[in-house]
Amino acid sequence: MTKAITSIEDLRVLAKARVPRMFYDYMESGSYTEGTFRANTADFERIKLRQRVAVDMTNRTLASTMVGQKVSMPVAIAPTGLTGMQHADGEILAARAAARAGIPFTLSTMSVCSIEDVAQNTDQPFWFQLYVMRDRDFIDRLIGRAKAAGCTALVLTLDLQILGQRHKDIKNGLSTPPKPTLANLINLATKPRWCLGMLGTKRRTFGNIVGHATGVKDVRSLSSWTAEQFDPKLSWDDVRRIRDKWGGKLILKGILDQEDAERAAETGAEALIVSNHGGRQLDGALSSIVSLPTIAAAVGDRIEVLMDGGIRSGQDVIKAVALGARGVLIGRAFLYGLGAGGEAGVTQCLDIIRKELDTTMAMCGLRDIHAVTRDILVDPPQSLNRGPA
Ligand code: GLV
Repeated sequence: MTKAITSIEDLRVLAKARVPRMFYDYMESGSYTEGTFRANTADFERIKLRQRVAVDMTNRTLASTMVGQKVSMPVAIAPTGLTGMQHADGEILAARAAARAGIPFTLSTMSVCSIEDVAQNTDQPFWFQLYVMRDRDFIDRLIGRAKAAGCTALVLTLDLQILGQRHKDIKNGLSTPPKPTLANLINLATKPRWCLGMLGTKRRTFGNIVGHATGVKDVRSLSSWTAEQFDPKLSWDDVRRIRDKWGGKLILKGILDQEDAERAAETGAEALIVSNHGGRQLDGALSSIVSLPTIAAAVGDRIEVLMDGGIRSGQDVIKAVALGARGVLIGRAFLYGLGAGGEAGVTQCLDIIRKELDTTMAMCGLRDIHAVTRDILVDPPQSLNRGPA
């Protein structure tokens, strides 16, 4: 990795240069106008921190817990589809970087490396993210596979019964692996590192699905797979059924509304994730950080509240914690690192976020992440309610 990298934005720029366009675009897109995708980051910028001086800044700690699991900082790796297409063996590399950093890694159902493959190639347990599909036997088998692999939490995604349209994926003809069209071949010719990595691995399609699900016609295409397989009839009864089937720690992902948060709290799940799926589902929805305080205030005493969406720095992490999140999940930030430099790039991403979080906490006058409250923010309600920056 080059010495000049000092921020998550630097990693994004490098990832853009190194990852084939269809996969970079898949990651860096929101649905329709991308308004919610942009709001996720823009709304963080509007929240301002209170600088404090002449306080003891020695012996700081970011150590905390997420769903009862010790974490070296309140950050986990979010489940992201097609991670193994940002870099060869991407899920295994990111899981290893997360384990070394002392934070949880979440494997997506739509991953390239399978549950078993990640378990065999890492030495720390990870979390598994589940989509609810029409084929209940397939879901039950996935749950069984996650249990057998020793996964320590199940992250059940509730906001993708149907897929939000991302224009770029249609225009790029997104598929896994890419089809050998002229446009793709020309683009791939400019990504020699990526190609070399892919030539050196056998992991090039949806590892959890191929060979495990029956009747899937087009396994290369995420959009046809979701249209065919994801269950548009998902209900809170299904959530309870999955909770019972899994029997372990359950995290409900994709909660943005207070009424849904109340329902989530009633299920007995350990945690919910305030999330709009990175702005990739309901375009026009509120940003995650603006949604967080209301939900944390409503249910935070009954269920652990986590959040994702728009985290690009340690400053963002501390703002989310100040507004009621026990911890956050990062998606694009780690994918930038992965695309930029594989495992070392993810480690660099986590190091950047950890250092920013630690320095920011100190300059806000605190030494322990557990002491972070709304008190570190300038006029919290007003700064959230002001118009566009
Ligand atoms: C899948 O989770 C996606 O957002 O593409």
